[in-house]
Amino acid sequence: MGEMIAKPASKVSGEYLPPGDKSISHRLVMLGSLAEGTSVFTHFLEADDCLRTIKAFEAMGVSFKKSEGKLFVNGIGVRKLNPPKSPLDLGNSGTTMRLLLGILAGQNFEVTLTGDASLTKRPMRRVTEPLRQMGAQITGTEDGNFAPLTIKGGKLTGIHWVNQIASAQVKSAILLAGLNADGETSVEESIPSRDHTERLLTRFGVPVERHDRKITVRKAEALKPFQFQVPGDISSAAFFMVAAAITPGSDVVIKNVGLNPSRSGIIDILKAMGADISVEMTQDRGEPMGDIHMRGLDKRLQAVIINKEWIPNLIDELPILMIACALAEGRSVIRGAKELRVKETDRINSMAQGLKAIGGKVQPTEDGCIINGVSRFQGGAISSFGDHRTAMSFAIAALQSEKEILIQDTDCIMTSYPGFEADLAKLVKA
Ligand code: S3P
Repeated sequence: MGEMIAKPASKVSGEYLPPGDKSISHRLVMLGSLAEGTSVFTHFLEADDCLRTIKAFEAMGVSFKKSEGKLFVNGIGVRKLNPPKSPLDLGNSGTTMRLLLGILAGQNFEVTLTGDASLTKRPMRRVTEPLRQMGAQITGTEDGNFAPLTIKGGKLTGIHWVNQIASAQVKSAILLAGLNADGETSVEESIPSRDHTERLLTRFGVPVERHDRKITVRKAEALKPFQFQVPGDISSAAFFMVAAAITPGSDVVIKNVGLNPSRSGIIDILKAMGADISVEMTQDRGEPMGDIHMRGLDKRLQAVIINKEWIPNLIDELPILMIACALAEGRSVIRGAKELRVKETDRINSMAQGLKAIGGKVQPTEDGCIINGVSRFQGGAISSFGDHRTAMSFAIAALQSEKEILIQDTDCIMTSYPGFEADLAKLVKA
């Protein structure tokens, strides 16, 4: 539902404060709920996905208060959640479902988790399998691969899990279960994924050992509440980074954005494409944060090859990077990104279909795509397929189109970035 008409622009300029980081906001609600006492968070992301996480914990006895831009979380303890009265509907939020499964694995009750049409089609075995090995009882469609999932938590034993899929959601679910498991719980990754869970656990007073690619936690007695300012979401800022990079004469200063090195691959890729970017780190209280200054150059971006090793570091930025590649000079290749097929929609398909509809030259492959850049899109009509990042990517594509782009199915933008259209209107000059 909902549509947006996105228009061409002459430039993008101004100072911009991106909304709070989604991954960090989810984790703060979860860990704050498990802490003993009140945590206070500022710049928390009030988007549908994170509000689902709050609702789920409210249903399990945690109370929240919002006042003067602050979120107060009154945590009740690591093994003290209460059984909810009805199934928990997690909407579109994969992060909520996967991380929550890890937490519920160690709670002494049974609960059913469900979600919308997209979430109930997303693979969950990657999480239910290790959690079962730790001792949780889980049932659901296709032997626990799809929601609705019913989980009965209880006594857990630590495992050593070699993560075959480079996924922070899987890693986090296992580490969160590890807080309630006897012995050691460790996860080994072949390609490092975002490390917010590890960093925030440390801030909540839980020791986390990191050796090479192995992360280990032990049963936690208590989590200590704390105060934290959520950095701006680099995955949301990415839309305006690319907007500036593809529009000559642009000048955008992005303030207080998260610069966690496990998330900042988009900066390196845009630099490799020839974009004018400077970065200044301003603080690091567990999660580095700073300002990014982007200027639009008079020449086109250059094509780029994005290989498997880069993917986890910029997984959510691939849709908007596909727009950048589709306007770059030369042939870009994205490989090793099969995970895109199981996001909120199949993003290889949604982006390829949309790009073709507006005059882009893209050939989807099983695990990515090959893109031959054009100097400008033609414009046209596309569908988001209910995927927020697809919808927002085409709003940015319109800046470099001959005619406007009609984007269908835009209500989904609310899941991660309710202020997107307002920020676009503020920064874009006709
Ligand atoms: C997330 C991890 C990523 C990312 C998602 C948020 C997280 O998923 O795509 O939007 O907060 O841990 P995977 O870890 O499954 O790749």
